[in-house]
Amino acid sequence: MSNVLTAVAWPYANGPRHIGHVSGFGVPADIFSRYMRMAGHDVLMVSGTDEHGTPILVQADEEGLSPLEAANKYNRIIVEDLQALGMTYDLFTRTTTGNHYEIVQKLFLTLHDNGYVIPKTTMGAISPSTGRTLPDRYIEGTCPICSADGARGDQCDNCGNQLDPVDLIDPKSRINGETPKFVDEEHWFLDLPAFAEALNAWLDTRHGWRSNVVSFTRNLLDDLKPRAISRDLDWGVPVPLADWKDRNDKRLYVWFDAVIGYLSASIEWARRSGDPDAWQKWWHDSEAISYYFMGKDNIVFHSEIWPAMLLGAKGAGSRNGKPGELGELQLPTEVVSSEFLTMEGKKFSSSRRVVIFVRDFLERYDPDALRYFISVAGPENQDTDFTWSEFVRRNNDELVAGWGNLVNRSVNLAAKNFGEIPAASTLTEIDEQLLATTTAAFDTVGELLAGNRVKAAIGEAMRTVAAANKYLADTAPWKLKDDKDRMATVLNVALQAVDDCNTILAPFLPFSAQKVFEMLGGEGVFAAMPRIVEVDDLDGTGAIGAGSYPILTGDYSQAPPWKSTPIKVGHPLSKPTPIFTKLDASVVDEELERMA
Ligand code: MF3
Ligand code: ZN
Repeated sequence: MSNVLTAVAWPYANGPRHIGHVSGFGVPADIFSRYMRMAGHDVLMVSGTDEHGTPILVQADEEGLSPLEAANKYNRIIVEDLQALGMTYDLFTRTTTGNHYEIVQKLFLTLHDNGYVIPKTTMGAISPSTGRTLPDRYIEGTCPICSADGARGDQCDNCGNQLDPVDLIDPKSRINGETPKFVDEEHWFLDLPAFAEALNAWLDTRHGWRSNVVSFTRNLLDDLKPRAISRDLDWGVPVPLADWKDRNDKRLYVWFDAVIGYLSASIEWARRSGDPDAWQKWWHDSEAISYYFMGKDNIVFHSEIWPAMLLGAKGAGSRNGKPGELGELQLPTEVVSSEFLTMEGKKFSSSRRVVIFVRDFLERYDPDALRYFISVAGPENQDTDFTWSEFVRRNNDELVAGWGNLVNRSVNLAAKNFGEIPAASTLTEIDEQLLATTTAAFDTVGELLAGNRVKAAIGEAMRTVAAANKYLADTAPWKLKDDKDRMATVLNVALQAVDDCNTILAPFLPFSAQKVFEMLGGEGVFAAMPRIVEVDDLDGTGAIGAGSYPILTGDYSQAPPWKSTPIKVGHPLSKPTPIFTKLDASVVDEELERMA
């Protein structure tokens, strides 16, 4: 049994979640955590809203809010969206807490003490007419990489690359259209070349990563340059150095602070749990394993920059040094990156209405219907298109007609003929075969889930469901009215298979798993759900000050074991209510209409 850290990329607090956001890595990370808990591991799943970057500033501007007001608003909305999907975070917090500010500053100082944070002169933009700094996001021009117009100084929305304003072709101020002047400015840089050797050596020890992540990372490591970690901004974590910390125009760059969130959230979780050192089990123990989940645009931060920061913080780069107050922190075991989801053939875009918000979706459809679609057709290994017709087809033909039907038929027949879970007498070969199939599925599906192969895992799980449906067709218990003994055996075996399949499907479909569990006489929590708790900031020293905020947390310690559990013979059964909803074909047109 291991200590397992599930580290999920931090969403910007700049809007509600849409299904593109949660499909690639959000729901898959929850499936992984739920499985690992059932397999007996001690899981810590953390994340929060990323509240410092340009995306927040741009959104705040658009709504006439302060950055903190915008962050407060969307942090709460995102917390609600993630709860509605059943995402079992041990802690989902935010980057504006006092705890986060303190941990970020500690890590910065350790890196600085060890010589990995170096000053460098860089080109910063100023407005010629006012003489004031022009932040990256207020500069617009042609992208030097993909040639799209309207790229911002920090990022191109068309190709997704991070940019430097000085590289934009034909840069213009978005405020008044003038051409910015570039002047020398001093900033802090993370000395990435000092980690070249250590990073390559570390990568050599990593096995079983998705090939896109490995090759992408190798390329990155071939070309390491110092990277800016401070910015001309007034929104962010202050730079904790004598001449810098009281300046209102210099802050740590969002990327530097956001990746530290995994650590600060683990520490916040421990402090709230009453055992402030508890986080060390996941960060100091060399046997602990950590999985980082993100979209492909985030690989660089998780397979290069964050590992470099962790190496630097323990003095393991070419300049050596020694561990700071936070001790020797473990590097990622695996960086799990997904691809992108598109929507009816187009890129998601809230402004162009090519979007389905999680909350709108869940007003009309069940969370498990979405979780099923994501599991079976998510962008795990390639960019993938969401279409309403495919959603309806998968829901009706697979979820309802496959799994829902198996549960319904088995429980219904047993209820009608016995009023309870019947006992089996002698098992025949076909019975033994089915039970062997469902028992074996625990190993196959479990292994796939441990390797984050969610698609293949649910494929195996649904194949087991199909085997049980075939068993019912072959044994036709409804025709066994004259042989009640055999009928009882068949239904006992079928219900045992239902129970096994339900356990196997629980990481993917936790809402219905709880229902099926109760239908078969289970009591208490089978598939735990997260809850929202309003908490006070622990320190009052971050941007949110002494305020309170909603966190997502929960008690997931009672996860059922990942194995077949004997069903409760004699438990009374009544006619089941269907666990899934069949969707009418008209749903497709209705939804397309909404987007038009
Ligand atoms: N907010 C970033 C994005 O949405 C991701 C940050 S992940 C973290 O692209 F590791 F930096 F937190
Ligand atoms: Zn571009």
